[in-house]
Amino acid sequence: MKIDLSGKNIIVTGGARGLGRACVQTFTESGARVALVDIDFKAARESAARYDRATAYACDLEDPDSLKVLHQKLSDDFDGRIDILVNNAGIISYAKDFESISVREWDQVINVNLRGPFLASQVFGADMKARGSGKIINISSLAAHIGGIDVGVHYTTSKAGIIGLTRSFAKKLGPFGINVNAVAPGITLTEPVKRHLAGREAEYIAAIPLRRLGQPEDVAQAVLFLSSAMSDYITGCVLDVNGGIYMN
Ligand SMILES: NC(=O)c1ccc[n+]([C@@H]2O[C@H](COP(=O)([O-])OP(=O)(O)OC[C@H]3O[C@@H](n4cnc5c(N)ncnc54)[C@H](O)[C@@H]3O)[C@@H](O)[C@H]2O)c1
Repeated sequence: MKIDLSGKNIIVTGGARGLGRACVQTFTESGARVALVDIDFKAARESAARYDRATAYACDLEDPDSLKVLHQKLSDDFDGRIDILVNNAGIISYAKDFESISVREWDQVINVNLRGPFLASQVFGADMKARGSGKIINISSLAAHIGGIDVGVHYTTSKAGIIGLTRSFAKKLGPFGINVNAVAPGITLTEPVKRHLAGREAEYIAAIPLRRLGQPEDVAQAVLFLSSAMSDYITGCVLDVNGGIYMN
């Protein structure tokens, strides 16, 4: 069944590569207009050029001022109407042990992975609230459920925080007709994950009931569902896309 998002304006943060780029592709194929936001503007522009109706925007989600500028720019470019916000940008950190995580690393991962989605939901969620419609989809992680496989404590904490953020915003914005949900991907083959697995894929696949690793498109399809009218009565949920490695 084809989902039609023609006429919708969508923000995808971290859209230059990986899961974000798969979301941009899926959205544009569904007819939506997409603001592809990334700290890496060169990669963002290259990715946006691949798809009809995608435009690249530079933003460092660790920097609240950069987000303010983005909000203003998108308000102008999209006539103040963002229908869907996908908080996807994040740093995957494979810190080996908790002793070695510096305050700087902790702050960076928490700020990008958790404070960024909060600040983006704050400004774009306020616009949605004023308009009385919208959807926010946050990208959490399998790590939030199981304490992480190889990732650091800061990463796991940020992704567990995303679940709280999702449910809190779902309660605050539900009365205004806005759905807020999360997707929790399992081990999904994007560049940082491929680099980390490097030849050890079979080890991980053995623990996955569906006997394969995730592809970015698997996550994008779940995000598409939560962006569509098919999920209008779903809010505050965490949709696991992990091949069954963890069943909530
Ligand atoms: N790949 C997985 O297995 C997996 C599993 C669970 C959750 N996730 C989550 O999915 C999201 C995407 O991960 P991915 O695997 O595609 O990673 P990726 O590294 O391929 O892509 C992340 C994107 O976010 C951008 N980004 C990083 N910091 C930013 C900042 N400060 N401001 C703006 N953009 C920034 C990067 O430039 C990059 O384009 C992340 O939130 C990650 O934690 C991934």
